Amino acid sequence: MLPRLAERGRTVIEDWRLVEGRPGTDWARRLGFRTVRSLAAMVMTVADVDRTRWPVGVPQGYRVERWADTAPDEVVTSYAAARSAIHDVPMGTTEFVPPEWTVERVRANEAELSGENVEQRVVVAVHEATGEVAGLTEVVLLPREPRTFHQGDTVVLAAHRGRGIGLGLKGVMAHWLVEDHPELRRMHTVTNSDNEHMIRVNRRLGMTVERTELVVAHEIDALTARLTT
Ligand SMILES: CC(C)(COP(=O)(O)OP(=O)(O)OC[C@H]1O[C@@H](n2cnc3c(N)ncnc32)[C@H](O)[C@@H]1OP(=O)(O)O)[C@@H](O)C(=O)NCCC(=O)NCCS
Repeated sequence: MLPRLAERGRTVIEDWRLVEGRPGTDWARRLGFRTVRSLAAMVMTVADVDRTRWPVGVPQGYRVERWADTAPDEVVTSYAAARSAIHDVPMGTTEFVPPEWTVERVRANEAELSGENVEQRVVVAVHEATGEVAGLTEVVLLPREPRTFHQGDTVVLAAHRGRGIGLGLKGVMAHWLVEDHPELRRMHTVTNSDNEHMIRVNRRLGMTVERTELVVAHEIDALTARLTT
């Protein structure tokens, strides 16, 4: 794999989501991989959670809109702009850079997910005064795991943070998911280990940290030299 990556101009190889404490992590470290990101993998078992902890709305001055699979035309431009705030997510020192979201990218992503039979749900908070999307949360349901929802992006634009929007959006999402999917067992999310605000929101909803996952990286030249000497 390494020569092919080098041919394509890549200089660093990363491995995502190695579980801390398992043999794969030790193996990578022995090969000289360094940790570039640490993630808290959090989980909620729906049957065990007191659902009254889940907020049913967002703060005054905002309204909730939600959809499955396809963003309404009226909101898609503002939704795409808000999704680009995902650049504020703490990412450690990984080489991965989240995309710039545009309407075209949103539509391409929706088409890709529906082509793979992935159900996507989105809840947004619209700022009433401006009509703009101030925050969003997105989840996916993969066909191979019909009882588990995986959290995708959650972002609140910087000017609107700290008002309970993130918590409200996730609460609305959780209620909606269990209403439509009574068979739902688990909700999963991963968050940078130092993303204290997101972790606090997740804990308030009833999620707990299940394990630590690591992103590890190595320079391709140095790894090639190590493996060929
Ligand atoms: C994480 C994020 C979505 C939280 O949204 P939010 O609407 O600001 O969060 P909430 O207001 O619902 O509350 C979260 C908690 O963190 C606190 N908080 C949130 N943002 C804060 C800030 N900028 N400064 C200080 N405290 C903050 C809130 O007071 C609340 O604490 P509490 O438990 O004492 O009530 C938002 O900070 C964000 O978009 N960050 C950048 C993107 C990101 O990291 N996304 C997560 C990817 S996994």
